[in-house]
Amino acid sequence: MEDRIISAQLMVEDQAAELSLRPRLLSEYIGQSKAKENLKVFIEAAKQRREALDHVLLYGPPGLGKTTLSNIIANELGVNIRTTSGPAIERPGDLAALLTNLQEGDVLFIDEIHRLHRTVEEVLYPAMEDFALDIMIGKGPSARSVRLDLPKFTLIGATTRAGLLSAPLRDRFGVVSRLEYYTIDELTYIVSRTSEILQVPIVGEAAQEIGMRSRGTPRIANRLLKRVRDFAQIQGDGIITEAIAGTALEQIQVDKLGLDLIDHKMIHSIITSFQGGPVGLETIAATIGEESQTIEDVYEPYLLQIGFLQRTPRGRMVTPLAYRHLGYEPPKRGDN
Ligand SMILES: Nc1ncnc2c1ncn2[C@@H]1O[C@H](COP(=O)(O)OP(=O)(O)OP(=O)(O)O)[C@@H](O)[C@H]1O
Ligand SMILES: [Mg+2]
Repeated sequence: MEDRIISAQLMVEDQAAELSLRPRLLSEYIGQSKAKENLKVFIEAAKQRREALDHVLLYGPPGLGKTTLSNIIANELGVNIRTTSGPAIERPGDLAALLTNLQEGDVLFIDEIHRLHRTVEEVLYPAMEDFALDIMIGKGPSARSVRLDLPKFTLIGATTRAGLLSAPLRDRFGVVSRLEYYTIDELTYIVSRTSEILQVPIVGEAAQEIGMRSRGTPRIANRLLKRVRDFAQIQGDGIITEAIAGTALEQIQVDKLGLDLIDHKMIHSIITSFQGGPVGLETIAATIGEESQTIEDVYEPYLLQIGFLQRTPRGRMVTPLAYRHLGYEPPKRGDN
């Protein structure tokens, strides 16, 4: 009974802890050393010159810390951050309102920037380049364009699909950083850090076990940790031991490499229905009943990363590594 009351309270505190899981400083931001080292220099230089930081484009798969890093950049610069997203800015006027409300040096963060409407994007070009806003006054033959000066601001754009960004938009970013999948060591560290913040005791091996299965992604690491914590609390004495972590992860059907049932289903179907491929994305999607977009954005990048899938001009192919992981003997063929 006592435990239950305590756990209910913990749940409430969890909500608040969610926010505190986000690192606030570059020094607390684990991994991504290349992006971090560069940004550190650019931030320092901009601060010394008392100028706004160059516009920054962050891209990479979901959950790797783009939003987190954007907030850190603003925090390190000591400026305000206004957050919005591509699809949320419906008309040019919405963007104009955002821009004119910024203060000198502020960060405007546009998430999913690849989904900006074209008419909005066109307003953004002079804003990024000349810190100016061109607005039309009047209608018909007497209409004229007036140029308004904007405060010098930093645009941070985040996207999971850099390829969908128009060239003129991409070219206007001075700093372009690609976030990489995290190593198991980095994820292990993130799990330990999160468990400290959540005040859940965890042994090193268990943190590593969770890190291993997190698909290179901090968001997944944190989510798995929370699920495992539930098992430790209910089936154990609250401490996340290696055994508890193992059983819990088994139970929620995340395998040693972080693959879930859908990954298995997809690989399995390419092997059994298409002799390992090549097979088109649309066909895979139809076969396993998932959106092709979801496969491309969510499932495939990690499978490509760990060398389970290959993209060829004729479609996706399963590699021998994936065959073995699912317990199949890979076919003997020269090109695989
Ligand atoms: N480098 C890091 N160190 C520690 N924790 C991190 C790091 N990067 C991300 N996280 C954690 O992972 C979670 C997800 O990160 P974030 O929301 O920034 O990802 P994202 O790249 O913006 O994802 P999306 O593409 O879905 O918007 C955050 O809540 C944060 O706690
Ligand atoms: Mg985000």
